[in-house]
Amino acid sequence: MKEQLSSLKKEFEAQLKHASSLLQLEELEQTIFGRKMGAFTTLAKQMKDVANDQKKTIGELMNTVRTKIATELEDKRALLQREEMKKIVETESIDVTQPQLPKEEHGHIHPMAQVEMELSELFRSMGFMVLDGPELESDYFNFEALHIPLSHPARDSQDTFFIKDHPEWVMRTHTSPVQVRAMREHGAPLRAVVPGRVFRNEATDGSHEHTFAQLEGLVIDTDISIADLIGVMKGLLSGILKRDVEVRLRPGFFPFVEPGFELDMRCQVCDGAGCGACKHSGWVEMIPCGLVHPEVLIAGGIDPDVYSGFAFGLGSMRLVMQKYGIEDIRHFQSGDLRFLQQF
Ligand code: PHE
Repeated sequence: MKEQLSSLKKEFEAQLKHASSLLQLEELEQTIFGRKMGAFTTLAKQMKDVANDQKKTIGELMNTVRTKIATELEDKRALLQREEMKKIVETESIDVTQPQLPKEEHGHIHPMAQVEMELSELFRSMGFMVLDGPELESDYFNFEALHIPLSHPARDSQDTFFIKDHPEWVMRTHTSPVQVRAMREHGAPLRAVVPGRVFRNEATDGSHEHTFAQLEGLVIDTDISIADLIGVMKGLLSGILKRDVEVRLRPGFFPFVEPGFELDMRCQVCDGAGCGACKHSGWVEMIPCGLVHPEVLIAGGIDPDVYSGFAFGLGSMRLVMQKYGIEDIRHFQSGDLRFLQQF
C-alpha cells in the first residue's frame, strides 16, 4: 500500500508538470480523485483490506498524500488562471478609434395614453366600470338611439366619415353610443366610463382634429341630481390636474340630455387672466354633460320613472393640453419625436 501511494504521488507530480491548461489540469484531477476510476479513490477503497494493526499508519499516510496532492492541484490551478488572464489582456486590446455604437432607445407611453390610463384608474377607484365600444358604429347607436333622428340639425355639427355602400355605418362621432350599449348590457344601476377615439369631418386647426379622444361617463341610479354630476366632474379635473379647479356650468344643448350643460374650467394656462388657450375669456370649455334624457333610458331598456342619470363627454385631448400647456392639438398625432420625447 505504501509503495502504491508513493508511486501514485510520483506519477501525479510528473504529470502535473506537463499540465499546461486548466482543462488538462481538470483531466488530471479526474484521474486521481475521479469517483469511479480515480487512482486515489481506488486505493482508498482498498483500506478495508489492510491489516488492523496497519490501519492507523496507512490511514494517516493516505491523508497526508491526499492533502499534498490537493494543495498542489490548487496551486497549479491558480497559476494557470493567472497565465490565462495575462494572455487575454495581452491579445485583446481596446480600439479607441472605433465609433461609439448607437445608444439603445426605449420608447414610452404616449401622453394621451398615459392620461387615459390615469383617468381609468381614477374612475375605477370611484367604483366605475371601464368599458369599450366599436369605432365603426351603427347609425342607430351613434345617432338614433341618442335621440338624434335622421333629419335632426344636431347631425350637422357631427359630420363624420361614412363607409362606402354602407349608409348604416359611421365612424363614431363621439363615445356616447356606448351609453345605450352599456345600459342594454349591464342594466341599472350603472357607473361606467368609456375612453376612446372618435372621428369627425373637420377642417383641422390648432384646436380641431379629425380623429380625437373622448372619455364618456355614465351614472344611472335612483336619486341622481346635478349636484352629483358637479361633484364627479370636479373630482375628475382636480384628480388629473393634481390641484383644485374652479368650474362653472352653462346651459348647453345635446339631444340626449335634459337639461344639458357645458362645464367650463378656469384656464390653467393663464389662471383666468385670459390667454390664447382660453380665447382670452379665462375659461375653457371642458366637459359637455347633463342628465340622461328619458328617451335614451328607454332605448337602453331602463325605466325612466324609477331611474335617472347623468352623462358627460370629456374631451380628453383638451384636458391633456391643459395639463401640459400644449398649444396645438395636431401635435398628438404628428408622430414628431421632438414633441413626444417631452413626456
Ligand atoms: N357626445 C357629446 C359630444 O361629443 C358630448 C356629451 C356627452 C354631451 C355626454 C352630453 C353628455 O359632443
